[in-house]
Amino acid sequence: MSVPITDPRDRLIVALDLPSVGAAESLVAQLGDAVTFYKIGYELGFAGGLGLARELIADGRKVFIDFKLHDIGNTVARGIASLAALGASFATVHAYPQTLRAAVEGRGDSALRLLAVTVLTSYDEADLRAAGYGAGVEETVARRVVQAREAGIDGIVCAPTDATRVRTLLGPDRAIVTPGVRPEGAATGDQKRVATPFAAIRAGADHLVVGRPIVAAPDPAAAARAVQAEIAAALAAS
Ligand code: C5P
Repeated sequence: MSVPITDPRDRLIVALDLPSVGAAESLVAQLGDAVTFYKIGYELGFAGGLGLARELIADGRKVFIDFKLHDIGNTVARGIASLAALGASFATVHAYPQTLRAAVEGRGDSALRLLAVTVLTSYDEADLRAAGYGAGVEETVARRVVQAREAGIDGIVCAPTDATRVRTLLGPDRAIVTPGVRPEGAATGDQKRVATPFAAIRAGADHLVVGRPIVAAPDPAAAARAVQAEIAAALAAS
């Protein structure tokens, strides 16, 4: 079910969190062959980034569309079918049962792999209560991982610090993708539950999403290669 990882570079997904296609194109050019997999979220996606996604895919790169979809089933299924037609490798949806089932229907037998977001990492117990939920974060994450698995989703996005627990619930065959990755000594920014690339892979992550430690580095390609070296060291130690 998970994406077969034939190229070890594919384990690193660089978040193109940039305001314009021009800025993203220049970063992609700087990164060159060091990076094979890019994530496009709201900021770049709503600034023309889907056209860039098409170009990256035509150029042999993989693209993760991180729009975290959640709507009525028909709309989700059709949106996901469009992302499959675009040639995206990963797309995110919120882990609500109707949304999960609709996304799986929209994906059909395409190569697109669906990732479920269980509880946003910026939410704590008080935020869930304020949103009207009775269960806490841990219980809600666990329930949604199981529901995502049962719906036929291909993987989960979670904090590296949750990866071990998620792996137990998810089983060995689906992907775990973790943001919140910070090489030793890097600024954490607004990320609260962070881990190094080495620790995230050791906790069971298949792919790491890294934004600012690479995007804002003085030498982004060197920063990307350093993360990949840490990933390789963690896999070798497994
Ligand atoms: O710059 P940084 O490495 O923190 O970027 C992490 C990326 O992963 C951002 O694009 C962010 O939107 C995304 N993300 C996250 N936490 C989640 C889900 C996605 O940081 N739970």
